[in-house]
Amino acid sequence: MDTDANDARRKWDRVYAGTSTEPARACQVLKTFSYLLPTSGRALDVACGRGGNALLLAQQGLNTSALDISPVALDALASQAKVYGVAIELIEADTAVYRASEAEKFDVIVVSNYLDRDFCQRLPQLLAAGGLLFYQTFVKDRTEPDKGPSNPDFLLDAGELLKLFGALRVLQYVDLGTIGDVSHGLRNQAMLVALQEN
Ligand SMILES: C[S@@+](CC[C@H](N)C(=O)[O-])C[C@H]1O[C@@H](n2cnc3c(N)ncnc32)[C@H](O)[C@@H]1O
Repeated sequence: MDTDANDARRKWDRVYAGTSTEPARACQVLKTFSYLLPTSGRALDVACGRGGNALLLAQQGLNTSALDISPVALDALASQAKVYGVAIELIEADTAVYRASEAEKFDVIVVSNYLDRDFCQRLPQLLAAGGLLFYQTFVKDRTEPDKGPSNPDFLLDAGELLKLFGALRVLQYVDLGTIGDVSHGLRNQAMLVALQEN
């Protein structure tokens, strides 16, 4: 593991060492559009943290894997999976170097509150034909600038998810910025549901 990856792992291990044992929650895009999920197949929760998305996917009956750089986060997810009585494959990995084999295509991939643009370029190759991507993370044009990362490298530009995943067919996209009555709608984040057609 290189220095950046070691720093990231240490930082996130510290964050998760201080968190509660409250069940982690799935992101809004996955909860809202969970009716699009298949009832069988393989799913991957990328940068899963304590794995709210992975737990939802496994409870849906999907053969679920969860990837994160932080072993402390993965331990917390392992405990929750036991409580829920679901099996989740835990992958301790850095998205900068993670590569799945041809045999390891996924029918569903979820990414929430995480942005690694190089990984996004490779992500469609991990999706099986007919596979769905659910993506939700923070944007630069926020109504509450203190919500989400302060480093602009980890924030989406307006319309950026559409550019990053231009090879996929867009089923849902929400990116409201600060337009209109900001007490309504998803703010601070953008969300995308997209389909790998072939
Ligand atoms: C803000 S948390 C989001 C967790 C979860 N997806 C959620 O929405 O609650 C960001 C996650 O990214 C993970 N992470 C950070 N850098 C990573 C990397 N290079 N590779 C894999 N995971 C990484 C952290 O350990 C952390 O769990």
